[in-house]
Amino acid sequence: MARVIAFVNQKGGVGKTTNTVNLAAIAGQALGTRDGQSQVLVVSTDPQASAVWWSDRVDEDQLPFDFHQCDDRPEDLARLKQLEQYQYVLVDTPGNIEDEKILSATLDSTDEVVVPVPPEAMAFTPAKRTIEKVLEPRGIPYRVLITDWDPRDGTVDLEQTQEYVDSNDWPRLLTVVRHYKIHTRAAAEGQVCTQYPRGRIALEAREDFFRLAVELGIGGRPLPKQARKTSAVKGSI
Ligand SMILES: Nc1ncnc2c1ncn2[C@@H]1O[C@H](COP(=O)(O)OP(=O)(O)O)[C@@H](O)[C@H]1O
Ligand SMILES: [Mg+2]
Repeated sequence: MARVIAFVNQKGGVGKTTNTVNLAAIAGQALGTRDGQSQVLVVSTDPQASAVWWSDRVDEDQLPFDFHQCDDRPEDLARLKQLEQYQYVLVDTPGNIEDEKILSATLDSTDEVVVPVPPEAMAFTPAKRTIEKVLEPRGIPYRVLITDWDPRDGTVDLEQTQEYVDSNDWPRLLTVVRHYKIHTRAAAEGQVCTQYPRGRIALEAREDFFRLAVELGIGGRPLPKQARKTSAVKGSI
């Protein structure tokens, strides 16, 4: 069974697509292929399909994950967890969640939601609405991800955002995804972070998605069935 993680925030431009595809790239590369098949699937439920536009520009062979656009077939979304061939399914959702059926189908199949929030006061109310009106009533586990923080701006906004999240008792990921021009340009150039040119900046920019992957517990292949039995026996001694 696949583990499904959805990126949800009712505000547009907060980094849902950027974080989904770059995390998927890191995860896809780390997990490699099994029987020639990628272990990671990105699903976009955004009818504006920025991710599709983006994926069309990427050299398909270079993409370390599979991609599926699904904005009008809730029945497909209901089956996400049953996709045996994938270990992880990352769902990119639209900013204006108008299609209730698509949203419900997505959230019904989702194990965990990541709520990307940039460190700016204008992003607080939409985040609150998303969490209190959409996620908490459904009892879906979620964590806030502070994202697109530019270290050159200093730490005041970052700290204010962390305090706001903590004062609401919302679970918060420790990883902060920093702002890098290379991420902004990448979408326009049809690249994901695993394809960035060599160099210090690219390495730093990519590092945040490695951290995020580790914090979300993404990575490592499941043990083959036989090995699992053996380790269970050992563990029970
Ligand atoms: N960490 C980041 N560094 C640089 N630019 C970013 C970062 N995160 C998002 N952006 C840029 O901000 C804009 C909005 O991000 P996007 O992922 O499309 O948001 P959403 O999917 O929530 O609408 C895009 O131009 C994207 O390239
Ligand atoms: Mg988007």
